[in-house]
Amino acid sequence: MKKINAAQLRRMWLDFYKSKGHAIISSASLIPENDPTVLFTTAGMHPLVPYLLGQKHPQGKRLADVQKCVRTGDIDEVGDSSHLTFFEMLGNWSLGDYFKKEMIAWSYEFLTDEKYLGIDPGKLSVTVFAGDGDCPRDDESASYWEKAGIPKERIFFLPKENNWWGPAGITGPCGPDTEMFVDTGKPACSPECSPACSCGKYLEVWNDVFMQYNKTADGKYEPLAQKNVDTGMGLERTVKTLQGVDSVYETDLFAPIIARIEKLTGVKYGSSETATKAIRVIADHIRTSVMIIGDDRGVLCSNVDQGYILRRLLRRAVRFIKQLGGGMGLLSQVARVVIDMYKDVYPELERNADRVIGEIDAEEGRFEKTITAGMKKFEAIREHLVGDTISGNTAFKLYDTYGFPIEMTTELAKEAGLKVDMDGFNAALEQHAAKSRAGAEHKFKSGLADHSEQTVRLHTATHLLHAALKRVLGDSGIFQKGSNITEERLRFDFNFPRPLTSEEIKKVEDAVNEAIAADVPVTCEEMTLDEAKAAGAEAHFESRYGERVKVYTMGKYSKEVCGGPHAEHTGQLGHFRIVKEQSSSAGVRRIKAILE
Ligand code: ALA
Repeated sequence: MKKINAAQLRRMWLDFYKSKGHAIISSASLIPENDPTVLFTTAGMHPLVPYLLGQKHPQGKRLADVQKCVRTGDIDEVGDSSHLTFFEMLGNWSLGDYFKKEMIAWSYEFLTDEKYLGIDPGKLSVTVFAGDGDCPRDDESASYWEKAGIPKERIFFLPKENNWWGPAGITGPCGPDTEMFVDTGKPACSPECSPACSCGKYLEVWNDVFMQYNKTADGKYEPLAQKNVDTGMGLERTVKTLQGVDSVYETDLFAPIIARIEKLTGVKYGSSETATKAIRVIADHIRTSVMIIGDDRGVLCSNVDQGYILRRLLRRAVRFIKQLGGGMGLLSQVARVVIDMYKDVYPELERNADRVIGEIDAEEGRFEKTITAGMKKFEAIREHLVGDTISGNTAFKLYDTYGFPIEMTTELAKEAGLKVDMDGFNAALEQHAAKSRAGAEHKFKSGLADHSEQTVRLHTATHLLHAALKRVLGDSGIFQKGSNITEERLRFDFNFPRPLTSEEIKKVEDAVNEAIAADVPVTCEEMTLDEAKAAGAEAHFESRYGERVKVYTMGKYSKEVCGGPHAEHTGQLGHFRIVKEQSSSAGVRRIKAILE
């Protein structure tokens, strides 16, 4: 395999598509315009949705680009070898022009031709859609792969969960996809090992989506008048595979950033597990923060929406730089390296460099003040402490409310001859960690795109769904990880380790419809969070300790802390139906449902 660096890959991609008659478009903003459903651009196709739906694109029917993307569902996972919050997606599109035949031939050419990636064809495997009750097996794609040179035994047929790209809402263009994998040469983990497996033998590099169906409101799939191609290749992931390294952080996309962090802190990447993790977190979070602030529609830190994500990223970076023994003012020096690395690809970063540096320094200062307030609080706790152990809940309160790192609590406690109940702290943290991960998404207008009657009804239905899931799947540990509601549908993410069976889906729908049929009033009371918990209410993560919260009750069916608004009684909702149940990320399921 050729050792290709990131700049070469971007160039090759654009040159290849230019040679195939594509117009090269520039990356759209990271902050979507006129779209209440997401905080950031999460895929190359996202800014192109109107054109995929049939609007004419001024630059024609063949487009290619490199798109800046941010995905923030897993901020707390960053630090391992693969998670990133910012990445670049290489993409190309056919808007009602070429389709499977050309796209698969080109994919094979780009991957294997010596002029491009030059991957040994013997190392390539592909997956295609296996077919189900809705849509037939994608034999067409499989036959083009065979024609291109992939033998049958390396073409895997997989279900919708793996090889399907759903519509943006609950209706609209969708279709099968075909994904391309490079075999690392590691032994198969089991006889069933396939590209669907995450053991690390097969690394995905590219996804070609064939939008050929229109999903209608009654759940049917009809052939689409304008058939589109939408493909995406993750730059970081592919560079990692081509460079044969174990982690995206060991590619040329991170080397200069990591070198600067090492120099500023005197700590070496790889010198210990803790050091490696801290350096990765700082590198990732500063890179993403530079992209968010430096975008032409960039934002500054705040407590809502995109600004809240930015704040979380920067504060997490501060904590980890402190862990490495670094002082104030270092993060903006790391940011300067990021700007220099990317300014040729994204010139807006240099234009907005002062804002980037200024905001990073300013947020560091604000966080420092917060920590000072936390110190005062710690002193008060110490004065009133009975015994010699700070409870897990108190340590967690310091962490959650004052943003006070637990390492600081244990350190201060040690100096004062005290202990901290770490088991209690970890239990409290675990309970809240996943909630806070999704918190940002939830904070986005409480997950409601608007306050129209139908959106509000779907919000009420979301509470009933949440309660029904707990009832049907067993209460132990199921909680909301995200919610997003538009006039058309609700979307609800929750932690659960496997797909739901069709019987479970039916039971959940029945439980919600039962609560609707009972037509109970939706009542609202104000109380403190502790009172709400004592009353058995499902407590939401956006509440702050001590603050008064609203508790919405729907008869015996649901009791939940929430900001509202809600329908007046459940009978107003209509018939509830789950239209999709899919994986959202590791251990997280996503349900989309409608009211008919
Ligand atoms: N839209 C497809 C993806 O993001 C190509 O994987």
